[in-house]
Amino acid sequence: MKLWGGRFGKATDTLVDDFNSSIRFDARMYKQDILGSIAHSQMLGRCGVIPKEDADLIGKTLKEILADIEDGKVEFRIDAEDIHMNIETILIERIGDVGKRLHTGRSRNDQVALDIRMYLRDEIDTLSELLKTAMRTVLSLADKHSGAIMPGYTHLQKAQPVSFGHHMLAYFEMFKRDLSRLSDCRQRINWMPLGAGALAGTTYPLDRESVARELGFDGITHNSMDSVSDRDFVIELISCLSMLMMHLSRFCEELILWSSNEFSFVEMDDSYSTGSSIMPQKKNPDVAELIRGKTGRVYGSLMTILTVMKSLPLAYNKDMQEDKEAVFDAVDTVKLCLPVFTNMIATMTVKEDNLLAGAKGGFTNATDVADYLVKKGVPFRESHAVVGKMVALAIEKGKALDEFTMDEFHACSSLIEEDIYEAISMQTCVDGRDLIGGTATARVRKEVEAGYAFLDAQK
Ligand code: ARG
Repeated sequence: MKLWGGRFGKATDTLVDDFNSSIRFDARMYKQDILGSIAHSQMLGRCGVIPKEDADLIGKTLKEILADIEDGKVEFRIDAEDIHMNIETILIERIGDVGKRLHTGRSRNDQVALDIRMYLRDEIDTLSELLKTAMRTVLSLADKHSGAIMPGYTHLQKAQPVSFGHHMLAYFEMFKRDLSRLSDCRQRINWMPLGAGALAGTTYPLDRESVARELGFDGITHNSMDSVSDRDFVIELISCLSMLMMHLSRFCEELILWSSNEFSFVEMDDSYSTGSSIMPQKKNPDVAELIRGKTGRVYGSLMTILTVMKSLPLAYNKDMQEDKEAVFDAVDTVKLCLPVFTNMIATMTVKEDNLLAGAKGGFTNATDVADYLVKKGVPFRESHAVVGKMVALAIEKGKALDEFTMDEFHACSSLIEEDIYEAISMQTCVDGRDLIGGTATARVRKEVEAGYAFLDAQK
């Protein structure tokens, strides 16, 4: 008979057992479920709600069940529905009536809210570590290539020269925000819902605060209906993960472009590339593509849970069981992607010569020619127009602006002197942007140092 079978005259149809059951995917919360139950039963014993000896036997047996699960000795049952009732059923099988006291003053509704919060809190810690490792690798690339000049793009058209280090640091900043979003999200997750009962609270004098302390929560939740019925923290986490994946995906997209013959800015290591079953010459950036692709999957999970939660009346509804596959898949996907991403970028070769050659094409120093004229007293709008004509002339002649002869320069503006060549060299263009946040090599070096300090200061 089901743990809740008292009022039923018939067994559940096996189709319904199957349909209703979440054990296939919520079994992974076994540890959080057991730790929560130990804390709950101990508290029941302390508060005199159940005999202390019973609390101790429950606690001891739950620990044994945990060990048995970890040793692969336990088989969960579909007809016991979910991880919560599976563990309770095993407990009752082992210690009979004493085990039946565990669920006093508790509902699966506050229990599942507790378990998922504890589970996601642990996963956020793992994800943050993986992200920090990725960040350290991004930073070491910025460090190694802090002075390597490459074209910066807008509209995927060459715009102004930047350093490869600066480009890497752009991603470092994004990942820093991703990390802080995860930590914010963890703070909002870390409130202890037990005591909410099914929805209204409970008549037993539970010491909620002590359970919260024991389980490492920052405090307890303050509305029983909210405690069991919201999953905003699940949405928030998947949203943080979606943004993280969006950043990974943009990075990967650039690597895919840069690995192409047309760009040839980087080359993936053989161990992080794949071949074609028909074209012998191919070396494909599958790893980067797959990370880009899996981003869609994480967005899908976000859409799933947003849609599941929309319009649910308070308080608990079974619809909410659908939160788990979505959030587990999102977490698993990011946990899968981050280490592969880290190793992929750690092993790739950056072709500095090609980066520089790329920067030299496409008139990336045109803004600097205009700025040169501004320094000679020409209003910027006017110098913009003069240089525009100069670019048209350069295209006609098939040369770069810094390949102009003095005569060619003078044909455009009489104010240009010999110092123009120095003023518009790629190095000057980069190093001239020497304000906080700029691409100047000295600035990039400082930001790299700040990046290491940031990572070292993380606990
Ligand atoms: N497996 C359920 C879930 O994940 C646990 C809570 C069930 N509560 C209930 N009243 N049916 O949401």
